[in-house]
Amino acid sequence: MLEKHLDEDDLARNLRADVRAGLTADPRWLPPKWFYDARGSELFEEITRLPEYYPTRTERALLEQHAPEIARITEAKTLIELGSGSSEKTRLLLDAMVAAGTLGAFVPLDVSESALAAAVTALTGAYPGLSVHGVVGDMTRHLHHLPDGDSRVVAFLGGTLGNLVPAERAAFLTALRDVLHEGEWLLLGAALVTDPAVLVPAYDDAAGVTAEFNRNVLHVINRELGADFDPSAFRHVALWNPDDEWIEMRLRSLRDQRVRIPDPGLDLHFPQGSELRTEISAKFRRPALAAELSAAGFTARHWWTDPADRFAVTLAEAA
Ligand code: AVJ
Repeated sequence: MLEKHLDEDDLARNLRADVRAGLTADPRWLPPKWFYDARGSELFEEITRLPEYYPTRTERALLEQHAPEIARITEAKTLIELGSGSSEKTRLLLDAMVAAGTLGAFVPLDVSESALAAAVTALTGAYPGLSVHGVVGDMTRHLHHLPDGDSRVVAFLGGTLGNLVPAERAAFLTALRDVLHEGEWLLLGAALVTDPAVLVPAYDDAAGVTAEFNRNVLHVINRELGADFDPSAFRHVALWNPDDEWIEMRLRSLRDQRVRIPDPGLDLHFPQGSELRTEISAKFRRPALAAELSAAGFTARHWWTDPADRFAVTLAEAA
């Protein structure tokens, strides 16, 4: 079953507000959540299979290794997953929690209705004894729609926390802590600071899939707001920002051009070489992440990493 807190109007209104704010700012920016229409979600799935994009497979290996322990520690009755997408890695957790005999419900929340609907159908078939309740929503706005309960575990995987700037992360983690009861759990997947020679290719692959994913946001704005972006006139840029310790993805204008967006009524000039920031993907260090969690009312209790220390899965308890 699927519960919707986002409809087409809501999405368009939200996108319009983000486009107006971000494209009239200096420097220009757009929030990364607008990558994920049906095509964007497919492209992201393709990214996760690229040789250069290590986070997904590294996190999967960590979950394969530690899911039984996670199930034992949390004694989860309900698993909630934020930004679940295809819920593919989630099966490792579901299997372990079902085997532990505690789990009764799975609640995936995602902005992408298409990805969520497919996941709910597949999981309902695969786990007959489990109640699977999908929530179409925005994790920064709809946390209060999550079902109340006890012994809940909120999984926030893939490193998606890194898409938020520090102030947004603090607000998000605090809001999440607010809907949990003391003793419930956050299972967080976070990409770690590592060699830029490893980081940058993960966001600038040889096959050009990430470039296509990046430009997809322009297709979304064209379709939803009637804009006339020429996506092929923008080049994909990925760089490591060593001061903020995040990857930035940008779109750089290949020529001097104008873009019209009728609905917010924008007439934009992009000089050749001018840039639009489309994503930050922050990488974390253990002490700072533990401090962020603690500031939001969580206590980091467990921490698992891969041998190369590129990715961490951590269990934090609502204090
Ligand atoms: C899904 C947000 C975790 O930041 O690594 C992949 C998205 N962007 N390649 C990330 C992404 C470019 C991804 N997250």
